[in-house]
Amino acid sequence: MGQVEAYVEGIRDLPVLPEIAQRIISLTDDPNPNIAKIADLIQMDPTITANILNIINSGYYALRREVTSVRQAVVLLGLKQIRNLVVTMVSVNHFVEPPGSHIKLSDFWNHSLAVATIAQSLSNRFKYAEGSNVYLAGLLHDVGKVIIQCFYPEDMSRIIEVIDSDHCSMYDAEQKVLGFSHAEIGGCLTRKWKLPQQVTESIHYHHRCHRADDHVFAAILQFSDYITKVRLYAVYGDQNVDIIFDEEPCWKILLATFTQKNLDFERLLFEMDDEIDKARELVRQARGG
Ligand SMILES: [Fe+2]
Ligand SMILES: [Fe+2]
Repeated sequence: MGQVEAYVEGIRDLPVLPEIAQRIISLTDDPNPNIAKIADLIQMDPTITANILNIINSGYYALRREVTSVRQAVVLLGLKQIRNLVVTMVSVNHFVEPPGSHIKLSDFWNHSLAVATIAQSLSNRFKYAEGSNVYLAGLLHDVGKVIIQCFYPEDMSRIIEVIDSDHCSMYDAEQKVLGFSHAEIGGCLTRKWKLPQQVTESIHYHHRCHRADDHVFAAILQFSDYITKVRLYAVYGDQNVDIIFDEEPCWKILLATFTQKNLDFERLLFEMDDEIDKARELVRQARGG
C-alpha cells in the first residue's frame, strides 16, 4: 500500500459518499436514464427536494414560471444539472467542522462551488469533456484538505505553522509535513467513492495538471481553481502564492489545445464576469441564501 493510501486507510470512520449521491451518479450515467426513478429517489429526501425547488425557483436559473415538482425540475434542468445539485447539497452538508478549525468549512465550500461552476462553464465554452464531470471534479478537488483537518488535526496544525513560517502555499506545506498533498488524498478518497476516473485523476493532479493522462481536463480544473483564487474565494495559504498565468502549465495547455479559439487571457477573464457572478450567486443559494 502506498503512503497516501495508508494515510486514507488509517481513518477509522472514513467518510463515505452518501448513498443518494452514489445512486444519482449511477442513474444519471445510464445511457437510458429513467427520469421517474431519479425523481422518486430525490423525493425520498425532503431536505434535498426542498433545496432543489428553492434553487430552481431562485433568480439563478431565471425561469418564468414556478417549478413545484422534482420531476418538472429534472425535465427543465436536465439530468446532469440535477446530478450536480444533488451531489453539491449532499457534499456541502456532509462534513462537520471540528472546533478550532483552521479552514472554515463555509470558506472551503464557497471556494469549491465557485471552482465547480467556473470549470463547467469553461468546459462548455471549449466544448471539451463532460460538463458534469468537470463540475464534480471542481466541487471535490480540495476535499483532501477537509480530510486532513477533520481526521488529522495535528497534521493540519503543523501545516498551518509551516505556511505561516515559510510564507508558502498549503500544497507546499503539506509536501514538507506529510510528503504528499491534499490533491493525492482527494484522488485516493474519490477513487474509493468510485467516482468517474476522469474526476479522480484530475483531482489527483489538480496542482500538476500536465502530469495527468487527460491533461486538458485537469488543466481546465486547475485554471478554474486559479481564477477562483484570484477573483472570488481564496483559502488559507493562497495569500502566499503569486499566480503568473502566462507561465502556468494549465494556461499553456489550454492555449495549445484550443488554438482555434484565439484565447486571450485578459479577454477570457473579462468575458467570464457573468459566470463569476453566477458562481457567487450559486454559492449563496446552495448554502441557504
Ligand atoms: Fe488544491
Ligand atoms: Fe482549490
